[in-house]
Amino acid sequence: MGVLIKNGTIVTALDRFVGDVLCQKGRIVAIGASLEPAGGAEIVDASGQFVFPGGLDPHVHMELPFMGTVSSDDFETGTAAGVAGGTTSIIDFVIPARNQNLMEGLAAWHDKAKKAVADYAFHMAVTWWGDQTAEWMRRCVREEGIPSFKTFMAYRGAIGVDDVELIEVMKSAKELDALVTVHAEHGDMVVELQNRLMAEGKTSPKYHALSRPAPLEGEATSRAIMLARMTREPLYVVHVTCRQAVQAITEARARGQRVMGETCPQYLLLDDSIYDQPDFEGAAAVMSPPIRPRGHQEALWAALRNGTLEVVATDHCPFNLVGQKDMGKDDFRLIPNGAAGIENRLALMYTYGVLEGRLDLHQFVDLTSTRAAKIFGLYPRKGSITVGADADLVVWDPAATGTISAKTHHHQCDRSIFEGFKTQGAPSTVVVSGRIQYQAGDLKVEKGAGRYLERSLP
Ligand code: URP
Ligand code: ZN
Ligand code: ZN
Repeated sequence: MGVLIKNGTIVTALDRFVGDVLCQKGRIVAIGASLEPAGGAEIVDASGQFVFPGGLDPHVHMELPFMGTVSSDDFETGTAAGVAGGTTSIIDFVIPARNQNLMEGLAAWHDKAKKAVADYAFHMAVTWWGDQTAEWMRRCVREEGIPSFKTFMAYRGAIGVDDVELIEVMKSAKELDALVTVHAEHGDMVVELQNRLMAEGKTSPKYHALSRPAPLEGEATSRAIMLARMTREPLYVVHVTCRQAVQAITEARARGQRVMGETCPQYLLLDDSIYDQPDFEGAAAVMSPPIRPRGHQEALWAALRNGTLEVVATDHCPFNLVGQKDMGKDDFRLIPNGAAGIENRLALMYTYGVLEGRLDLHQFVDLTSTRAAKIFGLYPRKGSITVGADADLVVWDPAATGTISAKTHHHQCDRSIFEGFKTQGAPSTVVVSGRIQYQAGDLKVEKGAGRYLERSLP
């Protein structure tokens, strides 16, 4: 069959022109003017609308066992929510338990991900260092199509690593030409502050944020950058939230170090007053690092604009308030960390980035799709509109308006941290692997249609 998208304004990270895109057998086969619907392709009239490469979210956690529970979107519901919002591929994190064989963890993730409705890849989290870890890393890169590793400087005693372990990961990654990504917070100091606050009877969600202040992220970001400098390893800093971390990345890049950074819509658009909501509602926004006080957001926008931060991901990791987050009703340390966002990313970045003049359309495409595809070894198969690329496309109606709500979102989560946010611009049609999976509000995805994406770095 195939799909022919006609008369759209095609926007990539570099170009903008009016034309048609013909998709057949899951690939883009022609781009041009007045294309014919070869082989009876279904026609989508995109006049007056944009055509973007499908969004790529390189930081999500579907069905993640974490803090005594499991994130509430699985690979089917989470990728489906992504498609509804214009995100057509994801990179999830295999997170083995401390002392677990990394390859066993990978097998478990492959099993869970079989039901994905859109394409997926994995990063491997190295959660501990042992005699076999270097060999498992080698197998990930050389045999499993996983050339990026995740390390957590937070979550000490669980999935977090110490500096010695982090250095070993960086050394091995360097030998393998792989990329280390890092969650940067001073894990030991977080524990110290958490315990101090709890001892003072400060148990509510807002103390989660106070136990993880921005300087602890700034310090850990600088430390990770310094370790990467000494091991001569490039570094990708996930979910950057604050001015101190931006400063550390800016300085590293200024001296020529290859450091890349990502942020997420919640850190750009929310501030820490979200934790002051009554009735434990602030727990919905408990995540790590936490939402920051006012002032940090403008530093993040500036960093996106000037290229210091190169990717906007979501860190999609939802937990229901009722039945999951409420495990920490009397102790903020027990509130599962994370929130939903994969469906909202494009609409939020378009509304509050492009329409508010903070980003241009090409930056929008680059930040939400192309750059991550390049960094993580999926380009040009993903993140581009070129002949031969996967036919993952978003027809974007710039006039569509909406209001984000947990009542209407596709996330399997009883709260939205963006509740009430107005949006302008939304997908009218989403093509995934050459098939229309979302149109005019109608989500028609196919369980298991997503494919595993083996990657290799450029
Ligand atoms: O709070 C968060 N971010 N939960 C997911 C795990 C992580 O740190 O990315
Ligand atoms: Zn993290
Ligand atoms: Zn994460």
